Amino acid sequence: MTESTYIHGTAPEEQHRLSLLNDVLLNPASLRELALRGGERIVDFGSGLGQFSRAMARAVPRGHVVGIERSEEQLALARRLAADDDEADLVEFRQGDVLNAELEWGTYDVAHARFVLEHVPDPLRVVKSMVRAVRPGGRIVLADDDHDVLRLWPEPPGIAELWRAYMRTYDRIGNDPFTGRRLVQLLHDAGAQPVRCTVIFFGGCAGMDIFPTLAANMIGVVRSARETILSMGLYEEKAFDAVLREYDGWAKRPDAAIWFTMPWAEGRRTSS
Ligand SMILES: C[S@@+](CC[C@H](N)C(=O)[O-])C[C@H]1O[C@@H](n2cnc3c(N)ncnc32)[C@H](O)[C@@H]1O
Repeated sequence: MTESTYIHGTAPEEQHRLSLLNDVLLNPASLRELALRGGERIVDFGSGLGQFSRAMARAVPRGHVVGIERSEEQLALARRLAADDDEADLVEFRQGDVLNAELEWGTYDVAHARFVLEHVPDPLRVVKSMVRAVRPGGRIVLADDDHDVLRLWPEPPGIAELWRAYMRTYDRIGNDPFTGRRLVQLLHDAGAQPVRCTVIFFGGCAGMDIFPTLAANMIGVVRSARETILSMGLYEEKAFDAVLREYDGWAKRPDAAIWFTMPWAEGRRTSS
């Protein structure tokens, strides 16, 4: 079986940042695009901390959401966060690998995966499972990064080069940093009928309440991959730390802006 590697850490401060960004930036927009009707059975592939799985579950009071997550650690945290919010029973979290999931095939109305395909070497295999998971006419919804669309302005010194080194860690471990641009093709190749694609804005600027969190998250993903980047010889240690120091100053500028979008695509299962 093909293995997949997850390069980000699970440190508490990182999880906290992700929760905030989910609540403010990503989840409301992602839910709007999903346009759930209230009774759907949904399976969330690679559910992570489960914030979006729970957001979907709240939107389907007559339905059911199953979250599949490989990491015991993420799963335990997802369950704890849900319990803290009195939502312990809202989502059925299951431990499993999306490359080899065990599911009630052909019964779901929606199969969803966000920020997961970029972490597996064979995303097509996952999307094929998603197609198999839904009933004929069911929807397959994919959202994933295309890291190449990141633009920071005014550009902090060294950041473009460091970001390129970060992107290279993906292909070094057999993953694709540009998965986002392939979502429609993945749907097609997996046998689904592509229906729609769009992008969800995942950026912001000085003056927005969320900006310090967003700026910290953006560099946080690079910071959490520090050991990987250095051990692969993709960047020199002193230079790495210098760029991060510059960046921390940049994030406090009154004219700083991060332009980033998350590709999003939807397909339908046509065959029985
Ligand atoms: C960046 S998180 C995204 C979580 C969630 N989908 C979201 O949008 O908030 C990616 C998650 O996918 C999980 N993951 C990575 N590879 C996986 C695999 N092969 N099977 C199941 N989960 C996997 C990781 O453990 C991590 O929790």
